[in-house]
Amino acid sequence: MTDLFRPLVLRSGHVMPNRFMLAPLTNLQSQPDGVLGDDEFRWLTMRAEGGFGLTMTCATSIQYAGLGFPGQLGAYSEQHKAGLKRLAVAINQAGSHSVVQLHHSGMRTMADVVGHAPLCPSDNAETGARAMTLEEVEGTIQAFVDAAVRSQEAGFQGAEIHAAHGYLVCQFLSPEINQRNDAYGGSVENRERMLFEIIEGISHACGPGFSLGVRLSPERFGVQIDESLDLAARLLQDSRLDYLDMSLWDVFKEPQDPAYQGKSLLTHFAELPRSGVALGAAGKIVNAQDCRAALDAGLDFVVLGRTAILHSNAPQRIAADPQFAQVTIPVTRDYLAEQGLGEAFINYMSTWKGFVEAS
Ligand SMILES: Cc1cc2nc3c(=O)[nH]c(=O)nc-3n(C[C@H](O)[C@H](O)[C@H](O)COP(=O)(O)O)c2cc1C
Repeated sequence: MTDLFRPLVLRSGHVMPNRFMLAPLTNLQSQPDGVLGDDEFRWLTMRAEGGFGLTMTCATSIQYAGLGFPGQLGAYSEQHKAGLKRLAVAINQAGSHSVVQLHHSGMRTMADVVGHAPLCPSDNAETGARAMTLEEVEGTIQAFVDAAVRSQEAGFQGAEIHAAHGYLVCQFLSPEINQRNDAYGGSVENRERMLFEIIEGISHACGPGFSLGVRLSPERFGVQIDESLDLAARLLQDSRLDYLDMSLWDVFKEPQDPAYQGKSLLTHFAELPRSGVALGAAGKIVNAQDCRAALDAGLDFVVLGRTAILHSNAPQRIAADPQFAQVTIPVTRDYLAEQGLGEAFINYMSTWKGFVEAS
């Protein structure tokens, strides 16, 4: 058990007091204008107090034009600052490393809310999204940087760039979705340019004492595992980054691509050389044994999503009980309310199959 509870010193100098990161979890609990809601505050601070060494916000909007969810926390305006500060102060006070996940939905933006077609690397008939102009691409990169600066000014200790799950940065990475023929499309280098310019912009604006992570998903959403592995290899050597957070959905499964089968997805990424950049991953880590196995497979920290929803203090439970296992689902609405979820989040979890008991 010692490894899970050994502190992790990040490149920025910030310390995770243990190897547990709260996964970024959309919870729909802020106000329609992106100002922090009390339920979002309670949900997150309970996790920081429950022993997570790193507490990450939900996907937090960096631009009104890229809103993805109702009640999504925002970091795109000065009006968000007071709420971000309240949140950062409480997470920091609990001794957890405080991080905002920076997000733009791209073609998955809520068009009816923002009042125009979603913006995307290239026109997309399926979603009705239109290609961003070069100016819009540059403006969006700057919006990521501005949101990071705003979060830092509010007291957050770091940011994670959401480049996974088919949202904007992932859409730029994808050879299927990104059909641009300017500097941001075509070759792998061009498709990765947006991500690296965001990294450079945040690193320059926020300085070396601000932690910076990247989240990738290596399969689906038009992303190919060979390109993901090459990108991860570059990121794991990037002296501006603190960690790479791989969203695998099941850390122990094998890749979908038959050419890469024979070892787990996790092992593919854990075998890449790292220099000063830590590696974490999320996906079906549901008990203490899984946490240990994931570190044994080469991770520096584990990322808990649904287990953290079900147990506000999962790390403390694991410290107390080496046999700890996640409660059996479905659970009742009352159970989730006791774990600090408000009504909007419980309703959202009811849309995840088999999670909440029908009432
Ligand atoms: C309700 C819910 C909301 C999520 N929201 C986000 C999000 O805002 N950003 C993100 O990168 N991933 C998000 N994810 C993915 C999780 O961070 C995590 O990678 C995934 O749930 C797998 O981990 P788990 O098996 O421990 O739940 C979400 C997942 C769930 C279940």
